[in-house]
Order: sequence, then structure tokens, then C-alpha cells
Amino acid sequence: MHPEFALDPNLLYLNHAAIAPWPQRTVKAVTQLATESGQLGSKRYLDWLRVEQRLRERAARLLGADCADEIALLKSTSEGLSFIAQGLSWQPGENIVSIAQEFPSNRIVWEALADQGVEMRTLDLDASSAPEADLLAHCDAQTRLVAISWVQYARGRRLDIASLAHRCREQGILLCLDAIQGLGAQPFDLARSPVDFVVADGHKWLLGPEGLALFWCRPELRDQLRLTEHGWHMVEDMGAFDRTDWQPAPSARRFECGSPNMLGIHALEASLSLLEEVGLETIASAIEERTARLVELIDQAGFELLSPRETEQRAGIVTFRVPDVDQAALYQRLMAQGLMCASRGGGLRFSPHFYTPEQHLERAIALTKRALT
Ligand SMILES: Cc1ncc(COP(=O)(O)O)c(C=O)c1O
Repeated sequence: MHPEFALDPNLLYLNHAAIAPWPQRTVKAVTQLATESGQLGSKRYLDWLRVEQRLRERAARLLGADCADEIALLKSTSEGLSFIAQGLSWQPGENIVSIAQEFPSNRIVWEALADQGVEMRTLDLDASSAPEADLLAHCDAQTRLVAISWVQYARGRRLDIASLAHRCREQGILLCLDAIQGLGAQPFDLARSPVDFVVADGHKWLLGPEGLALFWCRPELRDQLRLTEHGWHMVEDMGAFDRTDWQPAPSARRFECGSPNMLGIHALEASLSLLEEVGLETIASAIEERTARLVELIDQAGFELLSPRETEQRAGIVTFRVPDVDQAALYQRLMAQGLMCASRGGGLRFSPHFYTPEQHLERAIALTKRALT
């Protein structure tokens, strides 16, 4: 096992698409902050703010954003998507193009605009061999925004965001990317993939905690998002508590209404430091090797692969069905035996990360075969 991970040897952990275990440096960062808080309260707050700044800088590098000021630290992907949906001003008759199999957060926020006369159009991902082109074919002159996940949560289909982003840009359509299932598993670069919004929580491929999400909005669009949350922290002159007039901060801090999630910040900063140290290219190819090995094992076992076979259409998710078996019961049996996975997309979802030992993949498939007898 990689020295940064101290997983219980009785577990086979193939569940990074749900909630990842923390690296040891993250465990240490949280423990240290807790100890410090207990002993000194907020005495070292200025140092904590430096950790926050470092996190924004790491996040900016992860996305290829120009600077740390472009990053807002929110509480979840759902919150970020809601800020976009509720922040844009919509005209009745405008539409949003999305995918039918989106995670509920990336569907409900847009459906909630129905009372403003905004129409939702969805593409059936399972029926599409070229979803990037098919999404664009769903667009018309009334399409304001395309809302998609980089990697679909259940069966792991990865979209070609670069080509979609360029096409949307050419057509004057906004592109909102739910990146939670891709960021940390694959390199990303806003220069290559000029989307308009990116949101991703930290608790999956970024190996961080729940409750802290990265939010990026194209700087030129910031003013177009009507703010839906207000407080002392989002104003330009933060800390001038006696001032009664205020302006929203010009930076992405305007989306952070109150006190920061300092505990989450320390955790995610540590986790991102590991991802940066290993490097996203290295991580992506390690994940690719592991998912390819899983596909091989699934084929050998005679199971039905539900995820894409083509590597460029996958990130870290491999979902498969065991024929003629109650999938839910099988899932429960495997979880009870320490195989951490998920029941999604009509099958079992395995999601290894870069450090997952190859033997764990073999043992997981062997356990699945044995669970049948
Ligand atoms: C694609 C996708 N979007 C959003 C979420 C939810 O994220 P959050 O809890 O940060 O709102 C998930 C969680 O599984 C997801 O897979």
C-alpha cells in the first residue's frame, strides 16, 4: 500500500466515486488543527488564513485558473450549481440542455427553474454513441446553458469537455461543468477546456473531506450571477465591521457569505498537496491501468461491463452487472465482507484511485465470484 494510505487491511477500497479515505497527511493536518484549537483557540488564525490561501492557489493550478482569487470555497457541488442556476437571470422560453442520467444535484437545480419558464432538454446518454455532438444537436437559439458532468456518476462515461466547450463558446451557449467525478482523477485545464463554470466537492477523487467544494466562474460572468447569499465575508471591505455601505468583493470571495470551513480547508489543502506532488498525469495513467485491469477481470469472469470499453471515455469508474443475480443483494454481501463499492447504474460500481494495489482488484473480483456461490 502507498505510504500515504493506512486503510484497514480487511477492506478492499473501491469507492472513490463515493467518499474517499484521507491520506495520512490529511489526517495529520486535521489532528494538528484540532489540537491547536483545543490549546490555543484562534491564536494562530493568521497562519490558518495562509493555509486557506494555499488551498486557493492549489485549486487554481488544478483547474488552470489565472489566480487564486478566481476560486470560491463553497460547501458542496449542489450549492455551487444552485448559485449558478439561481444567479443567472432567465427569460421564459430559454432552455437548458443536459443529460438524462445526471446525478440529482445536477438535475434538480435546473428543474427548479421551471416556474420561471425555463425548459429542460435531456439527452439519453445510454442511447448516444457521440454525446458531445448529440448534446449540441439538442441546442437551439433558445439554449442558454449546457449543464453536464465531466464523468457520469453511475457508469462513468467521460465526456470530451475540450471539444464541447469550444463548440458551446462558438454558439454563445454557457457550459456548466460538474467536475466532481473527474477532478483529481484526470488533468484539467481551463485554457484547453474553456467552460464557464466548474464545481467539484473535495470528498471523492480529490481525497479530501465532505463539506468543502471548489467553485470557479469565468471572471467576466461573475457580475452576471445575482448573489443569493450575503454576509460579512463576501463584501469588498471584509473586516470593516463599522462600515454600513458595502459592495460584493470583486473576487470569487463574493460567493462565500460567512466564516470559512477552516477544518475542511486544512484537510483539503493537505490532500491537494499530495495530488500535486504525485502529479495529475501520473495519477490519470495509474487509474487508467487499474480500470483497464478491472475491465479485463470483468470480461474473464463473464460479467457484463456497463461502463465504456474505450479508455478515453472512462476516468476512474468501472460499473458492471453480474448476470442472473439480484444486484442489490450481491452488493450488500460484498460490503459486509469489506469490499467498499457502490450499487449504481444497474450494477456494481468499482472506483479505484491511483494508489489502489492491483491485487485488490483481483481480490475484489474473486470475492464477487465467490459471493455468487
Ligand atoms: C456527479 C455528481 N454531482 C454532484 C454530487 C453531489 O455533490 P455534493 O454532495 O457536493 O453536492 C455527486 C455525488 O455523488 C455526483 O456524483
